[in-house]
Amino acid sequence: MTSSTQTIPKHNEVPRHLAVIMDGNGRWAKKRMMPRVFGHKKGLETLERLTIACARMGVEYLTVFAFSTENWRRPADEVGFLMNLFLQSLQRHVQRLHENGLRLKVIGERTRFSPPIINGIEAAERLTAANTGLTLTIAADYGGRWDILQAANQALSQGASRLDEETLRPYLSLGDAPEPDLFIRTGGETRISNFLLWQLAYTELYFTDTLWPDFDDKALALAVQSYRQRERRFGRTTEQLPTAQQRD
Ligand code: IPE
Ligand code: IPE
Ligand code: MG
Repeated sequence: MTSSTQTIPKHNEVPRHLAVIMDGNGRWAKKRMMPRVFGHKKGLETLERLTIACARMGVEYLTVFAFSTENWRRPADEVGFLMNLFLQSLQRHVQRLHENGLRLKVIGERTRFSPPIINGIEAAERLTAANTGLTLTIAADYGGRWDILQAANQALSQGASRLDEETLRPYLSLGDAPEPDLFIRTGGETRISNFLLWQLAYTELYFTDTLWPDFDDKALALAVQSYRQRERRFGRTTEQLPTAQQRD
């Protein structure tokens, strides 16, 4: 895959790869006098709708942040609820993804999940591995720093003595995907919160106050519209950039 720090990656009107921090579930529920976890349930429905919308739009990769390495520090009952929700969605929704030709991947440490979740992840990845539709990647127990360190450690253990982009890339969690074109964070915070630190080098960033359970097709269209107006220069000058036709 092309590196954005070396050459200008192929990109188009529609982002090939969309990365999303799905934030604001707890506040969405609180506003309705409901427990935080109710927001997580609603948030899962939003993810299902967004996945369909992205596939229709021609997005090839959708990578979403579902649970960070730091989210283990939340109250035990909230963590427990999220784990149950994850397991249920692996059991109930994967078949539908498969029927629609989508590929599911999970990135993150993985070993800290319960055996049923680990089995569920492996079964879902196996079932959908040969599909050619949109690749939905769920980042769970994921951290950007963890990713870079695990990749470096793998490269070293495979005999690399000096790391450069080429030696590291195959070991990074999204090593086989193009780098994200567009990043969306809902929920009003303007930070990366240890999501894809390496991969976001030249990604266009979009922040919205909309809370994740309210993020609908219209909100997605606004984000993509904003993306289309950006001039992606990758360190060059405007004059140096290939025209849209030359890029195709
Ligand atoms: C994002 O929503 C989902 C997870 C981190 C699992 P939050 O739970 O962070 O919701 P807010 O930010 O507290 O509203
Ligand atoms: C980021 O949201 C992680 C996920 C959406 C899974 P957080 O709610 O955990 O981020 P902070 O704590 O506000 O930075
Ligand atoms: Mg949050």
